[in-house]
Amino acid sequence: MSYNIAVMPGDGTGPEVVAEGLKVLKAAAERAGFSYDLNTYDFGGERYLRTGETLPDTAIPELAAHDAIFLGAIGHPEVKPGILELGILLKARFALDLYINLRPVKLFPGVETPIKDKGPAEIDFVVVRENTEGLYASTGGYLKKGTPDEVAVQESINTRKGVERCIRYAFDYAGRKDRRGQLTLVGKTNVLTYAWDLWWRAFNEIGDADFPAIKREYAHVDATCMWFVKNPEWFDVIVTDNMFGDIITDLGAMIQGGMGVAAGGNIHPGKIGMFEPIGGSAPKYMGQNVINPLAAIGAVQMMLDYLGETQAALWIEQGIIHAVSKMDSLSAGQMGMGTTDVGDLVAGLVANA
Ligand code: IPM
Ligand code: MN
Repeated sequence: MSYNIAVMPGDGTGPEVVAEGLKVLKAAAERAGFSYDLNTYDFGGERYLRTGETLPDTAIPELAAHDAIFLGAIGHPEVKPGILELGILLKARFALDLYINLRPVKLFPGVETPIKDKGPAEIDFVVVRENTEGLYASTGGYLKKGTPDEVAVQESINTRKGVERCIRYAFDYAGRKDRRGQLTLVGKTNVLTYAWDLWWRAFNEIGDADFPAIKREYAHVDATCMWFVKNPEWFDVIVTDNMFGDIITDLGAMIQGGMGVAAGGNIHPGKIGMFEPIGGSAPKYMGQNVINPLAAIGAVQMMLDYLGETQAALWIEQGIIHAVSKMDSLSAGQMGMGTTDVGDLVAGLVANA
């Protein structure tokens, strides 16, 4: 097999962690016997400051021609918040119709979690976040803007088609060999009675008709935050909307050991996926070889799993677990080794898997 991969290292420490991810990708390809071509794109804060361009329309079909995209981080201290996030990250999600945001929350052995008395056996679930609708759809508007009578409306868009394709993906995922066959719908049926009624009906209709073997559960989003801390073992696969998914996955990242290890994928199943460490560009750590590249390496793992290179993905996960056991901490500057050493460790283990 051969894959076409677009690389967007982006800003801050993005390029450093991407370099380590690519090191591991190379080792995995050699070991597993697949090949790939890389096309690197410089979208990010530097390019924006130079040219005024975020993600130009002409780049969309070019990116779409790849099997996958590997993204470092977007965010530049000299660019006003919102410009790069909307102009690059959200634009890619929408323009490429990456309707799934897949975020595993898995605590590796030896990694510290703030949750007392919980370990790897209890913290192992996956959040499937809808990635193109809800409050992120950017519909709404102002009335009497700038006056004391101002009204601002931000609408949550939930289409049957959008909800259904997301729920179907989540049911499928819950049926994977490496999951436990349980899908929890996380919503707010007690207050947001239009949107979550649609989600609730679709969830049950699809489950009854096509996934009778998957156990269905439901939790309100506020209660879910409580359970993440109190009984994270109750979750296997979660499906939720864009905004709730955004919020609960930051909490999820914390209980799995922090932003240094949390990776995610923005996916249009069967078409293309964009994989990224979910932490930011951490400009204050830039260029010092102190940032933790494990999240970016985890993104490569997810990318290979998405591409069907399941064995290579498993080797990378074992490599990450091995690296974690040798590191003092997963926090930037406290790892007891440099960014490049962490990449070498994982790549070495993959090469000899
Ligand atoms: C995320 C981020 C983005 C989001 C921001 C940077 C636009 O927080 O990927 O979770 O809100 O989706
Ligand atoms: Mn977020």
